[in-house]
Amino acid sequence: MIEVESLTKHRGGKPVLDAVSLHGAEAGVTVLVGPSGGGKSTLLRCLNGLETFEGGTVTIAGHRLAAGPHTGVELDELRRDVGMVFQQFNLFPHLTVLDNVMLAPRTVLRLPAGEARSRAVELLDRVGLAAFAAARPATLSGGQQQRVAIARALAMRPRVMLFDEPTSALDPSMTGEVLEVIVDLAKAGQTMVVVTHDHSFARRAATWVVELAAGKIVRQGMADELL
Ligand SMILES: Nc1ncnc2c1ncn2[C@@H]1O[C@H](COP(=O)(O)OP(=O)(O)OP(=O)(O)O)[C@@H](O)[C@H]1O
Ligand SMILES: [Mg+2]
Repeated sequence: MIEVESLTKHRGGKPVLDAVSLHGAEAGVTVLVGPSGGGKSTLLRCLNGLETFEGGTVTIAGHRLAAGPHTGVELDELRRDVGMVFQQFNLFPHLTVLDNVMLAPRTVLRLPAGEARSRAVELLDRVGLAAFAAARPATLSGGQQQRVAIARALAMRPRVMLFDEPTSALDPSMTGEVLEVIVDLAKAGQTMVVVTHDHSFARRAATWVVELAAGKIVRQGMADELL
């Protein structure tokens, strides 16, 4: 599902990813750990084409990205199959919760309104927010907004979900509700890559662990062995 071969990315002339290769991040939950500035977010952003890179290849959910610029068509196709959830939820403030979740299926997949709506209602129920469909994001707590962001990404039925420190912007009292949703997804068989500093979450959910520091892989292997 995810193969990275000698991925190299420079910023300001210095490598922030230095010949990074990932093998074994197959179906299941890959947890990406390592010190601040090590390149975790950059790697995740390369996996869904948000960043270009100078060397190597990324293969994810059947799509292949090469060094250099990506085409719009490549990125559109990739993002049907690869969803991403950010630290800051980035919901559209002027849309209701329901419309946030319906938007990409309507505009990208061109689903009829009724179908997009029933998909969105089902997903909001799955993240425990069915009662908030008509609310604006700003009226929700951070934990609730992040659960909406997860539902929004899931609405595309991605083959791979990427999470970049999904709970680090949250009040600690809200991290549990978001992690539960992610653990449930993992149990349901969703392939995902999660950047996290939460060791108890990693131990519960991870099948594969990758440690990145100063742009290089320090270790990668089975979670059972590394954690
Ligand atoms: N927009 C940017 N412009 C220039 N340099 C950047 C930019 N974003 C990140 N970097 C640099 O790239 C390197 C890797 O950063 P990255 O954000 O990928 O690390 P990280 O492992 O996600 O760290 P953290 O745990 O703090 O989120 C760092 O040296 C960082 O300073
Ligand atoms: Mg980061």
